[in-house]
Amino acid sequence: MDNNAIVVNGLTKTFGAKTAVDEISFKVARGRFFGFLGPNGAGKSTTIRMLSGLLRPTRGEAWIEGRPLRGDLLKIKEIIGILPEELPLYERLTGAEYLVFAGRMYGLPRVETRRRAEELLEFLSLAEDRDKLIADYSMGMKKKLALAAVLIHNPRVLFLDEPLNGIDPISGRVVTDLLRRITSKGVTLFFTSHVLDVVERLCDEVAVIDRGRIVAQGSLDSIRSQRALGRDASLEDVFLKLVSADVTREDLSWIG
Ligand SMILES: Nc1ncnc2c1ncn2[C@@H]1O[C@H](COP(=O)(O)OP(=O)(O)O)[C@@H](O)[C@H]1O
Ligand SMILES: [Mg+2]
Repeated sequence: MDNNAIVVNGLTKTFGAKTAVDEISFKVARGRFFGFLGPNGAGKSTTIRMLSGLLRPTRGEAWIEGRPLRGDLLKIKEIIGILPEELPLYERLTGAEYLVFAGRMYGLPRVETRRRAEELLEFLSLAEDRDKLIADYSMGMKKKLALAAVLIHNPRVLFLDEPLNGIDPISGRVVTDLLRRITSKGVTLFFTSHVLDVVERLCDEVAVIDRGRIVAQGSLDSIRSQRALGRDASLEDVFLKLVSADVTREDLSWIG
């Protein structure tokens, strides 16, 4: 098998007349912290939902760890974890119950599930709240718990859709430290965000998507040089240059 965890070839999704994702192609090497960046409505969630088997592509193909998306989806679901934008939490369970449920769903033995659940709760500073109902968790706590639940079966590729939205800086730090540790163990992270500085701080490589098309891909340095921006250009400069071509700033004449 080659060194790529994710290979995407001409992947397309249309919803009626709307092309949400338009013939995108890219590769992500194993162990990368890959940032998928773009403005609202660009097609990030649609892409991640196709790659994780939640949404059937209209056209194109992708391989996750060499396994075709259009083949046996169960084979893919065994080795991936997906954190969707809308968290799949059962609010009437406690945090600890939810993690045990997640582990058991993946067929982990009971004792091993409990061991991993306790370690994850401890690591994510949720141990004190382990017996609280999820309904009473804050947004940041819910994100951390959902992340713990996708890690419990030790996935090789993790898809994270806006994982840091709504998280305070301290929890954000805990989560990003955890994500870094995970990539250092050879797990591949595919991470969407519209928050530029987060992507800039964390990701080894990025792809920028705008209106369903990939408009740039590579390391930040290579994107800067392709776009003839200085080495000290921030990702924000690059991003604005790439995606804002027809952003017209209406001046809000009726205000004031
Ligand atoms: N189920 C759907 N039905 C119709 N249109 C959709 C659906 N899901 C997404 N879209 C449209 O596809 C485009 C891309 O959406 P999305 O992938 O959610 O963008 P992003 O995650 O980058 O903000 C948007 O224009 C959105 O309105
Ligand atoms: Mg989205």
